[in-house]
Amino acid sequence: MIVTTAQLFKHAYGKYAVGAYNINNAEQAMGLFKGAIDSKAPFIIQISKGARAYTDKRMLEAIIRSAGEIFPEAIFAVHLDHGDEATCYDCIDSGFFSSVMIDASHDPFDKNVEITKRVVERAHAKGISVEAELGMLGGVEEDIKVEDGHATLTDPKEADEFIKLTGCDSLACAIGTSHGAFKFKGKQSLHFDVLEKIKALRPGFPLVMHGSSSVPQDEVARINAAGGKIADSSGVDVNEYLPAAKLGVTKINIDTDGRLVWTRVHREFFRDKPSEFDFRPPGKIFIQEYAKFIASRNVLLGSAGQLDDLRKSLVK
Ligand code: G3H
Ligand code: 13P
Ligand code: ZN
Repeated sequence: MIVTTAQLFKHAYGKYAVGAYNINNAEQAMGLFKGAIDSKAPFIIQISKGARAYTDKRMLEAIIRSAGEIFPEAIFAVHLDHGDEATCYDCIDSGFFSSVMIDASHDPFDKNVEITKRVVERAHAKGISVEAELGMLGGVEEDIKVEDGHATLTDPKEADEFIKLTGCDSLACAIGTSHGAFKFKGKQSLHFDVLEKIKALRPGFPLVMHGSSSVPQDEVARINAAGGKIADSSGVDVNEYLPAAKLGVTKINIDTDGRLVWTRVHREFFRDKPSEFDFRPPGKIFIQEYAKFIASRNVLLGSAGQLDDLRKSLVK
């Protein structure tokens, strides 16, 4: 059942974070739904601009609708990840999305406010909520690359002002993470101080953490042992998910880790079976492995086991 992102946030706020997982194809969707049901967790499916171009937006919508029928117990929201203004309007007008993200974080504050405000007006007129971003994460997202040293943490006072000026429903904050598999040099922690300050100014307001993959080192080692060349990778400490959730992070975005599962499964499969050319056997393994991964992440986010209580709260 597709619900609004606001309904998921209301149930989760301050207790746990909802996992937001990107999908690009049917195998990812199957693994995601299976893992969510196995762990009895609500979730957010997110679709990037790149995914809409890769699989075709109509195909993705059909895949998600079908997955919802195959797994009728699932409770989830559908979200546009890192949208520009035009893509936000396309998703708002489609009638399929629960929420959109307008990412104008690369623009100066005033322009970010101006663009976000326009999207909020169009979205709210149709009952859709809006995630905006303030501050700048490092790494690559869509066609924009932010070099190390240009990433900036979110300023809590600016965040408070930004929320007031734009009317956005949730805010992606830069707290030290970046997109992709190379997040930190050496051991680093999330900037909980930023979250604490925003929570003090805006209690109850849902925050979003991007770049949350943990980049499991055993996964990377298996990829490299099967012919991969992924060096110096690092990710977020999974033990920091729940403390962040308690400080108002209600949505935690995980994409890269799923790509690593895909790469490990396929590299190992074709290394061990060099004469194989049917893609379905590794595809089946991927679905099982991705489902296990999703369930394990939902446990760490605290969303595992919340499905029945959420269902009850929705019928009240
Ligand atoms: O933040 C970016 C997400 O990981 C989506 O990646 O734009 O390559 O689909 P993508
Ligand atoms: P990762 O690259 O850490 O998986 O982050 C994904 C993300 O933030 C999607 O918006
Ligand atoms: Zn992101």
